[in-house]
Amino acid sequence: MAERTWYDVSPSAARLTGSLRDIGYDFPTAVADVVDNSVAAGATRVEILIEHDGTDSRVFIADDGGGMSPPALLEALRFGTRRDYGRGELGRYGLGLKTASLSQCRVLTVVSRSSKSVVRTCARALDLDLIEEWDQWVIVDPSNAVPAVARARQWLAEGTGTVVIWQLLDRVLPEKRPEGGWARRRLEALAARTADHLGIVFHRFLEGIDGRPQLVITVNGQKVQPWDPFARQEPATVELSMQRFEIESTDNVGQVTLRRFVLPPRDRFSDPDGFERLSGPLNWNRQQGLYVYRANRLVQWGGWSGIRGIDEHTKLARAALEFDTDLDSVFNINVAKMRVILPAQLRQLIEPSVNELCVLADDAYRKTSRRETLPVPKDLGVPAEVRAVSQAAATAGLALRMAAMHTDQWSAWEQIEAVLRQQSPEVAELLGLDAV
Ligand SMILES: Nc1ncnc2c1ncn2[C@@H]1O[C@H](COP(=O)(O)OP(=O)(O)OP(=O)(O)O)[C@@H](O)[C@H]1O
Ligand SMILES: [Mg+2]
Repeated sequence: MAERTWYDVSPSAARLTGSLRDIGYDFPTAVADVVDNSVAAGATRVEILIEHDGTDSRVFIADDGGGMSPPALLEALRFGTRRDYGRGELGRYGLGLKTASLSQCRVLTVVSRSSKSVVRTCARALDLDLIEEWDQWVIVDPSNAVPAVARARQWLAEGTGTVVIWQLLDRVLPEKRPEGGWARRRLEALAARTADHLGIVFHRFLEGIDGRPQLVITVNGQKVQPWDPFARQEPATVELSMQRFEIESTDNVGQVTLRRFVLPPRDRFSDPDGFERLSGPLNWNRQQGLYVYRANRLVQWGGWSGIRGIDEHTKLARAALEFDTDLDSVFNINVAKMRVILPAQLRQLIEPSVNELCVLADDAYRKTSRRETLPVPKDLGVPAEVRAVSQAAATAGLALRMAAMHTDQWSAWEQIEAVLRQQSPEVAELLGLDAV
C-alpha cells in the first residue's frame, strides 16, 4: 500500500445514509429485522408500541434480551457493525438496525441496559438530519428530556434489555395532516399488518423451539399469535417423509431439510375459520410452495422458486425448506432478510420430492372438487350409508398413495394403480384412483 499512490474517498455520510433508506423494507419487514436482533440477544419478550401523536408519532420496540454495554451500543449504531457471528445467529451484515429503522424514520434512538445487578442504562441516537447537515457519520447522546427516552429507561428498570425508538416517521405519516384521522388509521392498519407479519416469520419462536425459552411478542398490548403455514394442529394434515440434502458452500458442507405437507381441503378442516386463517396473506393459491427458513426464522414463502408454476390444483401443497446460517452465502440472503435465491444444485435435488408432493396435493384437491361438483347423492337416491362407505374408500385410496410416497415406492405404486385401473376399474374408482 505504502508504495502506491492512494486517495481517500470515504463515502459521503449524507448521501449514503439517504440511499440506504431504500433497500427494500416496508414497515412490517423493518420491524421484523429489529426483532431479529432481540431474538439474537436472547429476548423472551418483545413489546412493540406504535403510537399516533401527530408529528411526534413514534414506535418502540422493547426487549428483555442481554442488552448492550455503552461501547457495544455505539458499535451497534455503526453502519457495518464490527463483530463476529456464531452459527444460528440471525444477524449477518451489521446493518439491519440502522437500515431497517431509517427506512421508516429520521431519528433512531437506542436505549440499553446490560447489567443485571445495576440499573444503568445508556442511550444513543442516530439523527438523519444531523448527518445530512454535517455530512459526518455521527451518533449523539439524546437529551434526557426526550419523553420517549425517559419511558425507555423506565422499561429497563426491571432488568436487562434494549429499547429501539423510531421518531420523525416521515416514511410512514402523510406529509399533510400527520395529526389527522387518516394518519391515525394508517398507523393502526400498520400495527395490524405488523402483528400478522411477525406471527408468520417468527411463528416457530412463538410456538417454542427446543432449547430456547418461548418468545412472546406484543403489538400495542395484543399478543401476536403464531401462524403455522402447515396447519399441523389439523388432524387431516398429512406430512410426508422428511428429507435431508447436503449442499456445498465454499468452505463447508451444510444441511438443508425439506418437510412436505398436504393441507386438508376446505371440507376436511375441523372448522371453516381454520381454513380461512390458513389461507394466509397471499391466499391459498399463492401461498402454496416452499417456505424457506433460515435458523428457524421464515424468510421467504409462496411459489416453487422456479421448480414449477403455481397451480390451482396444487394449492394444498406447502413445504418447509430449512437451512442454517452456515449456508448463508449459498442462499444469497439479502440485507432485509426477505429473500433468498435457491442454489441451482439444491433446486435439482429437491425437484422430484416437490413433484411427488404436488401429485398428492393435486389428488386431495380433485377429490374435494369432485365432492363439490357431483350432484348431491341424496338427489340420486344414494343412501347416506353408501355415501359414507364411498368417502371412506376414497380416504383409504389417498392413504395408500401416501404410504407409497412415505416408503419411497411411488413408481411401484403407479404400476399397481395402472394394473388396478385395467383389471378392476370398479375398485380403482371406489378408491378414487381413477382420475389422475
Ligand atoms: N436488541 C438488541 N440487543 C442486543 N444487541 C443488539 C440489539 N440490537 C442490535 N444489537 C447489536 O448491534 C449489532 C448491530 O445490529 P444490526 O441489526 O445493525 O446488525 P446485525 O444484526 O449484526 O446484522 P444484520 O445487518 O444482518 O441485521 C448486532 O450485531 C448486535 O450486536
Ligand atoms: Mg440485525
